[in-house]
Amino acid sequence: AIAHPGAYIKHHIRTVPDWPAPGVQFRDITPLLSNPKVFRVLIDMFVHRYFDAKPTAIAGLDARGFIIGSVLAYELNVGFVPIRKKGKLPFTTVEETYELEYGSATVEIHTDAVKPGDRVVLIDDLIATGGTMMAGRKLLQRLGAEVIEGACIVDLPELGGSDKLRASGLPLFTLVSFE
Ligand code: PRP
Ligand code: ADE
Repeated sequence: AIAHPGAYIKHHIRTVPDWPAPGVQFRDITPLLSNPKVFRVLIDMFVHRYFDAKPTAIAGLDARGFIIGSVLAYELNVGFVPIRKKGKLPFTTVEETYELEYGSATVEIHTDAVKPGDRVVLIDDLIATGGTMMAGRKLLQRLGAEVIEGACIVDLPELGGSDKLRASGLPLFTLVSFE
């Protein structure tokens, strides 16, 4: 077993300065994914967190939330729901527009992706301003689902997103913080 899995995960996140814009410290999770031992520790932390909660679905945010969210859903034996950047989903959708640390975006979900009574964990790789997770949560709620928790690998607390999400009533589970 790994003695300090949070520190172990953090050690395998690469920081790329000034990408994609000057002043942004990009927290790159690809080293977590390419190393099978680290990837397993990462996924097992989420599996352990949600095994007893028995969510009815995992919703993942485009694009990095798909990588961990789909594996988590598979391990928990529940379905996976993608929340996508606008223009990618073929069936009828609902959408939300929000501001990012760099730019703005619109996300969509299929109208039949979840239903009233569903208990969903919403997952992404990282929370910065919190806009992406807030938008995803609104989409799930508009379709009548309960979002039992937001989950991510990395929190950037200085950007205020995790505080804002928690203040809005969304419980959060985050593995690593970068000040
Ligand atoms: C990143 C990250 C989160 C979001 C967090 O995605 O993967 O989804 O930004 O920022 P926020 O908390 O300020 O909303 P990005 O929009 O860069 O898209 P990508 O996953 O397609 O790279
Ligand atoms: N998404 C928004 N801000 C980010 C950052 N600093 N690193 C990685 N992904 C991000």
